[in-house]
Amino acid sequence: MGLVIATCSGKGGVGKSMFSVNTAIALEKEGKKVLLIDMDAGMRCLDLLLGVNEKLVFDVFDAISGKQLEDCLLRISEEKELYLLAAPSTKVQIDKEKWEQFIKYISEKFDVVIIDFPAGNDVSLLYCLPYDAQIICVANPDAVSVRDASAIGSLLLKGNKKPKLVINKYNYYFIKGNTFSNLDDIINETGMQLLGIVPFSEGLEYAFCTGDFKIKGREKRAFRRIAKRLDGKSIPLPKLKKI
Ligand SMILES: Nc1ncnc2c1ncn2[C@@H]1O[C@H](COP(=O)(O)OP(=O)(O)OP(=O)(O)O)[C@@H](O)[C@H]1O
Ligand SMILES: [Mg+2]
Repeated sequence: MGLVIATCSGKGGVGKSMFSVNTAIALEKEGKKVLLIDMDAGMRCLDLLLGVNEKLVFDVFDAISGKQLEDCLLRISEEKELYLLAAPSTKVQIDKEKWEQFIKYISEKFDVVIIDFPAGNDVSLLYCLPYDAQIICVANPDAVSVRDASAIGSLLLKGNKKPKLVINKYNYYFIKGNTFSNLDDIINETGMQLLGIVPFSEGLEYAFCTGDFKIKGREKRAFRRIAKRLDGKSIPLPKLKKI
């Protein structure tokens, strides 16, 4: 069975989709066959970001409802083992039993499945993920985002899920002298184990605007570390000034 990873956040716009795409690309580079699932029904974005929106006919809801998987999958490029199941264009009600079965079925077919959920406190589909799924809560190093991450963490704990934390849009010089003067404060406030830190970066903003995800430098190294940790390797945090 492949690794199932799911993103969540309390506050919107913190970088869940950014995390999902770059982590998928980094894991594909590690030799994995990766499936991205966009669960932001009505507000889908991964098809556009990855440049396959013109090819989109069937979405993840069709696949869950029994449509042939091959007809719903969008391959991101012929050279890459990277696939997408797009979100429906409107809000839909997903049957929890069917969802649970679908995730089990799909995780047999891919090495890694990354599910990009919308922001907010509806965690009902996250509760249904397999017990060993990695739930990643993305937060920015600001008071609002951290408080909302903490709220989501509490909700997930009620369903026996233990999310890990990714701090995105990190800037060493900005965080100093801010509400959170160090990382330990953020980790304590959310009560989550830290999976990784991604810098605030123009390169990532450029990638998001252009769909050209050939990132370099600090941001590339940040996602490579995260991918390796998700793959079970022990990779230490670099010096915070270098992130
Ligand atoms: N590390 C980063 N550095 C700079 N900009 C970033 C970074 N991460 C995300 N962004 C920018 O933040 C914005 C929101 O990112 P993204 O759509 O990934 O967030 P999200 O959490 O998925 O949002 P939503 O809650 O709407 O689904 C985008 O404009 C993106 O370019
Ligand atoms: Mg998103």
